[in-house]
Amino acid sequence: MAGIHIRNIEDYNEAYALSINNPEKFWEDIASEFQWKKPWTKTLEWNFIEPKIKWFEGGVLNITENCLDRHLESAADKLALIWEPNEIEGSTLKYTYSGLHKEVCRMANVLKELGVKKGDRICIYMPMVPELTFALLACARIGAIHCVIFAGFSADSIAGRINDCGCSVVITSESMSRGNKKIALKTIIDEAIDQCQTVEKVLVFADTKSTVQLKKNRDYLYIDLASNASDVCPAEPMDAEDPLFILYTSGSTGKPKGVVHTCGGYMVYAGYTFANVFQYKHPEIFWCTADIGWVTGHTYSLYGPLLNGATTLIFEGIPTYPAPDRFWKIIEKHKVNIFYTAPTAIRSLMCEGTEIIEPYDLSSLKVLGSVGEPINEEAWHWYNENIGNSDCPLTDTWWQTETGGIMIASIAGITPSVPAHAGLPLPGIQPVLLDADGKELEGNDVEGYLAIKFPWPGILRTTWGDHERCRLNYFDTFKGYYFSGDGAKRTAEGLYRIIGRVDDVINVSGHRFGTAEIENAINESAHIIESAVVGYPHDIKGQGIYAFVIASSKDSDPELLKKEAEEMVMKYIGKIARLDKIQVVSGLPKTRSGKIMRRILRKIAEGEINNLGDTSTLLDPGVVDLIIKGVV
Ligand code: PRX
Repeated sequence: MAGIHIRNIEDYNEAYALSINNPEKFWEDIASEFQWKKPWTKTLEWNFIEPKIKWFEGGVLNITENCLDRHLESAADKLALIWEPNEIEGSTLKYTYSGLHKEVCRMANVLKELGVKKGDRICIYMPMVPELTFALLACARIGAIHCVIFAGFSADSIAGRINDCGCSVVITSESMSRGNKKIALKTIIDEAIDQCQTVEKVLVFADTKSTVQLKKNRDYLYIDLASNASDVCPAEPMDAEDPLFILYTSGSTGKPKGVVHTCGGYMVYAGYTFANVFQYKHPEIFWCTADIGWVTGHTYSLYGPLLNGATTLIFEGIPTYPAPDRFWKIIEKHKVNIFYTAPTAIRSLMCEGTEIIEPYDLSSLKVLGSVGEPINEEAWHWYNENIGNSDCPLTDTWWQTETGGIMIASIAGITPSVPAHAGLPLPGIQPVLLDADGKELEGNDVEGYLAIKFPWPGILRTTWGDHERCRLNYFDTFKGYYFSGDGAKRTAEGLYRIIGRVDDVINVSGHRFGTAEIENAINESAHIIESAVVGYPHDIKGQGIYAFVIASSKDSDPELLKKEAEEMVMKYIGKIARLDKIQVVSGLPKTRSGKIMRRILRKIAEGEINNLGDTSTLLDPGVVDLIIKGVV
């Protein structure tokens, strides 16, 4: 359904060759399998200097027609969505394509009644419930730009994002159940909105009316508005290059930036990658464990599967509740065929031993996927043997918020899958490895900076409200290329192996944080004068967060300082950015120009104190000894 079907290695080679020799033809073939209200007139216009990237210009479409309406004729009764609740005794909810279509239209009408128009930015802060999927699709239905914020970010983080993109409406839930915790989301939203000027309306989902605090003329209960809303809503015609969504992600500098994806290109790329990488076949059940608050959830819990008429499963809870067998229980219960999760989840479940897997029948599984961070060999083998019974192709998928969809990965069962290697690029993707001078490294068995030299439809178009920031972040380091921020190796066989970030971004349990972002939060403490944050290898999370902090007064109690640093991170970022280690220090290793030498701090955090490299350029080399000895 989503263009080019790669079914064997010959197909892959042929598709890859076409995508290099005639990229426009390659993408036209794929795009033409989607439903367009008006065909495009120009397939591609681009340069990576400004940058300016336009795909399928002149084309008019609505992604929800491609996700929903298109399937109604032949598959109205097919399951589109399965929802598994947090509580084990709770009822699963199931929506057919026709049922989901109605819910989305109903919610789209509610949004219209609240005054939402094409181009408005709508903040969505919700748990993993079916209504979350309705909310994204309802925005897309009427041309509003959704901006989902993962429900683990704090009020301050939310306010920063709402203010950056000027959201007029917030969609939220009264509370969220995650494991044995209940979190009052509406209260967090109220606190956030106190710092925002643009929010006019708040749409609230609640289990029981009586408990929600509603602000007059601002807050509305969904059930009150939905009871009179029609379940028919025409799809807004959207230009291919109109924004579909904004998703904030952390970079090495400043505040998180709003990555912008567009209707046409994102649709084509999400549909194409889903169909091919996972080799989805009807009526398989696909489960991506990522929260819709992250790009993986956008593309592979929602848009990719629905664009292909697939059945997607979403889960409200966490892998360890009520017991660490929950994932395996769900796979057995719903006979999941394709399972896509993160290495951090695999590593934490590995620690529980294989006895807890044994009672479950996982024989429905056909394909396994991994995403978000490098998967180490031990976790790869454990996943392959214990979950896949050494019988399921395992695809390690490398991509980013900015790429919209998977870029380098094994096409399940077709292109090579080697432990800890993402493998070959998908047809349409032209990766290169660059040296520090931006020269392409030719041949195999080389290591360098991972960049992409030609656009693909899913590439970000800009960062919201600040195009220059987009240029500087991704297109300036190496002129003429999109730079990923990752380092990689190309093996003797030509397979890519991702090494990790080469910038000041750390990847904790598959979530990105800028070290500067965490430092800024810590420095808000009145008792901390300066801090430096680095990542270090962590057995479960991939990377942990190590903070070095300097007290503003010699007499500060180190324990209180640590507590305060933690509280600041919780307040300004949220629960997801927990500090793993905090060390109070008397000084930081700095160059004469005042730049912190993180390389040295990283080595200390890794425990490699005998291998610190050259410290002679430091303003005060003695400070390193004090840090190692733990002297404050
Ligand atoms: O460092 C890479 C790592 O995650 C970063 C992208 O993070 P984010 O935009 O949050 O998107 C995560 C989900 C797509 C990349 O720059 N990363 C992602 N997938 C892999 C990976 N590193 C190694 N192997 C992967 N499969």
